[in-house]
Amino acid sequence: MQPHYQGLIRRYRDRLPVSAATPVISLNEGNTPLVELQNLPRRLGRSVRILCKFEGLNPTGSFKDRGMTMAVSKAVEAGARAIICASTGNTSAAAAAYAARAGISCFVLIPEGKIALGKLSQAMMHGATVIQIRGNFDDGMRLVQEAAKHLPLTLVNSINPFRLQGQKTIAFEVVEALGEAPDYHVLPVGNAGNISAHWIGYSEAAGLVSGSCNHCGGACPYLAPALCKRRPVLIGVQAAGAAPFLRGAMVDNPETVATAIRIGHPVSWDLAWAAKNESGGWFSEATDAEILAAQKLLAETEGIFCEPASAVSIAGLLKAFERGVIGDGSVIVCTLTGHGLKDPDTAISQSSAPFLVDATGSAIEALIKEHLPR
Ligand code: F0G
Repeated sequence: MQPHYQGLIRRYRDRLPVSAATPVISLNEGNTPLVELQNLPRRLGRSVRILCKFEGLNPTGSFKDRGMTMAVSKAVEAGARAIICASTGNTSAAAAAYAARAGISCFVLIPEGKIALGKLSQAMMHGATVIQIRGNFDDGMRLVQEAAKHLPLTLVNSINPFRLQGQKTIAFEVVEALGEAPDYHVLPVGNAGNISAHWIGYSEAAGLVSGSCNHCGGACPYLAPALCKRRPVLIGVQAAGAAPFLRGAMVDNPETVATAIRIGHPVSWDLAWAAKNESGGWFSEATDAEILAAQKLLAETEGIFCEPASAVSIAGLLKAFERGVIGDGSVIVCTLTGHGLKDPDTAISQSSAPFLVDATGSAIEALIKEHLPR
């Protein structure tokens, strides 16, 4: 019998800081689909390839599972019995689920009224102690760092380096799927851990981190030697109301409909700048209207439902096309960080209401006839 896929720690054990003594706390995260867009490039009149890495199909519905399997496994290895995080929603969902899997306690701090309902329901269902604060994510981040200093808690926000180690595996998967790195990789930026992790992953896949190329050494089954050292240009996209990287300074009262990235004081500030600079990439921003339009466009033209913060990738890509900075023939990967079902309220509020008719054949027929393609 073929061994089935059992999560990214087992898959990439040789490239992660784990040992035989590390208990693997996994929900078989990773190995997410890389879906090539079929309709959008045509509709935009662009001869490019656009592929979406749909991280919404991870076990708790976002890319956070990649980091959380590592952070929780290492916490348990070190003897932790409780973890804590601040979150705009997805981290709390993942932390709660992996803590449940590990049989340890989980505390999550979330901004009152500013997290999508799906995410809140996850943290509650998995039995975390959910603490709403009268403040935003950045306040929560400060508070959990303080608490972890003097209480027996392991902090599992992306300031925990094991998180980025887990999240870097997205780049390994993209390189394996395409046979090489794409030309461009577009992703949303909030607390900035993920863009940093993408860059670590692409750099390692290119053999550039240890100083020598492990692929040319013949050890790597994934890359042909000729493809070594190739890394994508990174495009980090922020919501306009929460765009410290665009402003060049922290933002005190971030606001955006994409609540997942409603963050003004990103903790991975330096790492993210380095990733952008080393890749020859750039930061860009999208307004709430542009984010929601991109979310709807992707859902309607390609059948892919991502959450608003993820659609920021698509909005950023559309901007880059408008500016004419991405040439024909380019291969572009967009990370769709979370599933659309995380935030049903936002989805429903931007769609037209369902029809309501009497339960008769004639009423149904009349309505259908009105809407059949002509
Ligand atoms: N997309 C989604 C869906 C997210 O949940 C987040 C971050 C990001 C993008 C940005 O990633 O922070 O690494 O730059 N969510 C965190 C949370 C902050 O608490 O769930 P980042």
